[in-house]
Amino acid sequence: MEAKSKKIMSNQDGVHANLEKTVQRHLASRFRKPISDHTGAAFQAVAAELARIDRPLILDSCCGVGDSSRALAQAFPDHWVMGVDKSNVRLSKERDGVEPENLLLVRADLNDFFRLAAEAGWRPARHYILYPNPWPKAEHLKRRWHGAPVFPYIVGLGGRLELRSNWWLYLREFAVALEVAGHRAELCPYGADEPITPFEAKYKNSGQPLWQLTADLG
Ligand SMILES: C[S@@+](CC[C@H](N)C(=O)[O-])C[C@H]1O[C@@H](n2cnc3c(N)ncnc32)[C@H](O)[C@@H]1O
Repeated sequence: MEAKSKKIMSNQDGVHANLEKTVQRHLASRFRKPISDHTGAAFQAVAAELARIDRPLILDSCCGVGDSSRALAQAFPDHWVMGVDKSNVRLSKERDGVEPENLLLVRADLNDFFRLAAEAGWRPARHYILYPNPWPKAEHLKRRWHGAPVFPYIVGLGGRLELRSNWWLYLREFAVALEVAGHRAELCPYGADEPITPFEAKYKNSGQPLWQLTADLG
């Protein structure tokens, strides 16, 4: 049986007061933190592999155990699906059956990986960020992807972006951040008839409403 999951508790009751100026500051400056050796090496390895493949890319960021990446690889056999997560424990969870041939799972810190990919000119056709860590405390705005210095690089990757969350305000803030960056997003309830990630299944089984943001970043 799946564990029950608690609803998000936050000391915010609306979009963070500092969101717009935080995003503007990040859009106006380069993110200069040095790239970690590990993510640099992981990126070089997958970039070499991608160079040999003549198929559009789907990025599944924060893929956890990679179940969503496997589902996407099956749903898009004419694409190459790359799941990225920083947790080796999650990525190395064994799964039954034969892995799809168009799937690649990478352990990397996305704060570095997004920058390397955007600067190398990667333009995934689709980009999924499913159930990112919400960081619900107001003081943790900069840990949310839209409040982080790497946000402009996520936008720069382009493609059809899709985020899902059990916290509506996270996605509302992401939509506001995209608007500051010049893009429109759609935000709507998500039914998750067939959950494709463990978090999606957990939230759904707990009866929590789920939400989906989509945006065409070109
Ligand atoms: C709440 S879990 C969701 C996992 C999966 N998408 C799911 O729905 O089951 C968030 C995931 O984001 C990953 N993550 C958080 N920050 C990251 C970062 N900077 N780089 C790569 N992965 C990160 C975590 O390791 C974790 O697996």
